Amino acid sequence: MTDHNETDVLVVGSGIAGLASALAAARGGADVTVATKATRPEGASSWWAQGGIAIARDDPEQFKADILAASSDTADPDAVDVLVENANEAVEDVLLETLDVEFDTNGGTEDDFDFGREAAHSSNRILHVDASTGKHIHIPFLNYLADHDDVTIRDGTAALELIRHEGRVHGAVLESDGDFEPTYAGAVVLATGGIGDLYPRTTNPTGSTGDGIAMAALAGADVTDMEYVQFHPTVCVASEARSASDRSGEAAEEGPFLVSEAVRGEGAVLRNGDGERFMPDYHEDAELAPRDVVARAVKTERDATGEVTLDVSPLDFAGEFPDLVEKCEDHGVDWTDGIPVAPAEHFLCGGIDVDDRGRTTLDRLYAVGECARTGVHGANRLASTSLLEGLVWGLRAGDDAAGREVEVIEAPELLERDPELPERFAEEKFHRLRRVMDEYVGLERDPDDLGRAMAVLRRLKGEVDAYTRTRTSRSLYELRAASVTSLLIARQAAENEESVGCHHLVEEASADGDQAPEPRADD
Ligand code: SIN
Repeated sequence: MTDHNETDVLVVGSGIAGLASALAAARGGADVTVATKATRPEGASSWWAQGGIAIARDDPEQFKADILAASSDTADPDAVDVLVENANEAVEDVLLETLDVEFDTNGGTEDDFDFGREAAHSSNRILHVDASTGKHIHIPFLNYLADHDDVTIRDGTAALELIRHEGRVHGAVLESDGDFEPTYAGAVVLATGGIGDLYPRTTNPTGSTGDGIAMAALAGADVTDMEYVQFHPTVCVASEARSASDRSGEAAEEGPFLVSEAVRGEGAVLRNGDGERFMPDYHEDAELAPRDVVARAVKTERDATGEVTLDVSPLDFAGEFPDLVEKCEDHGVDWTDGIPVAPAEHFLCGGIDVDDRGRTTLDRLYAVGECARTGVHGANRLASTSLLEGLVWGLRAGDDAAGREVEVIEAPELLERDPELPERFAEEKFHRLRRVMDEYVGLERDPDDLGRAMAVLRRLKGEVDAYTRTRTSRSLYELRAASVTSLLIARQAAENEESVGCHHLVEEASADGDQAPEPRADD
């Protein structure tokens, strides 16, 4: 164990929410440390955001109505007010004036923005840069803070445990290159992003293991709405289809990739394996129905007809989405034939319970961005509101977190790292965890399966806990975070008997003979 470090505000995570917290805390006079597992910007989900960032423009009430409708009226109206009332100002202040982000315009004046539209938005209100908005915000934001005198960004640095005493958080134990460093802070802001690594197919970057949620839950903070896991309906799965059949051996990038909802906003339609357009049969808004509705329809049609493709012929795809065209080409996809798509885990709507300033139920612990549950999304998030939520709550939390005294107390003892065994152990257990989450806690859930999932995940967590008593490594901590977070999702899903939004219950599966497999012996 090396000596300890001290900082006024410790931010864990480097997506837009973490960076906004750092900016606001530094503006409030704090000395800020941003600890991030990522070693490259691509490690943060914000970098990958395609569609854009919605703002209220001149109609916050309609924006609020759209958010509430997409959530099936489960979002917290007071939290939504905070979002829509602060949206324009936060974007103006940080993205336009401080970072100089150049959103797409209609070619006229500088602020004649080309506002886009996505599913369940009743008007065009989304600022974007092509369909790669995230990186055009994230890179200047990182660069700006890297040059800031009061902010230190520590790449390749994970937070493993919170340091706490009697309901107050005093810092976190950080790990960097195998060294453990207690870092004491006046306040800690968790901005650790999503949970994509809990599922086999996701739009999230590697390392999305729910670390912040698990650390907060283990420290005693309230964590809610975990059952609301959002699946994005259109993720290109061409490389999965190729590897399932005979591979040509031609070089192509692998892995699923997101095809933004903005493409459907511009007129693309979904077709099943028989070439038929099906979304009008599922919802009056067809391809622009709420995301959970489209995702389930895509799954149903894939199951019934073998595949679903996104037909981009109704729009000028090459002209409007050059980044996606390039991506298709890199992945060996001939988009003129339609893009093969499937749903993939995309966003956790619940998380660590916070108030309108990002304060958790533990003193001096804040949470912002995807790991937080602000109440804005309820059971289903409206497209292009995640960057906005991260920005608005990040600024509010960072501002509140500045100005607290650092107090040094005893940190948890961590053992020396044993690198070999835990890596193999972690790989095996991750595989099992993802299979359980996919089979039992995915897009559709049978209450009996949720019980099975909990039983398997409890056992798995017990094995991981036993391991962490004798060994320490980053992957073991990620596995522990994933097992804690998975169990929270399964438990809260089992407790919620209302089928709504992303939590879709299917009770009849067993009676139809469409039974989910029993856990195998190795489960
Ligand atoms: C997309 O571009 O489809 C994703 C946008 C979002 O998740 O809000």
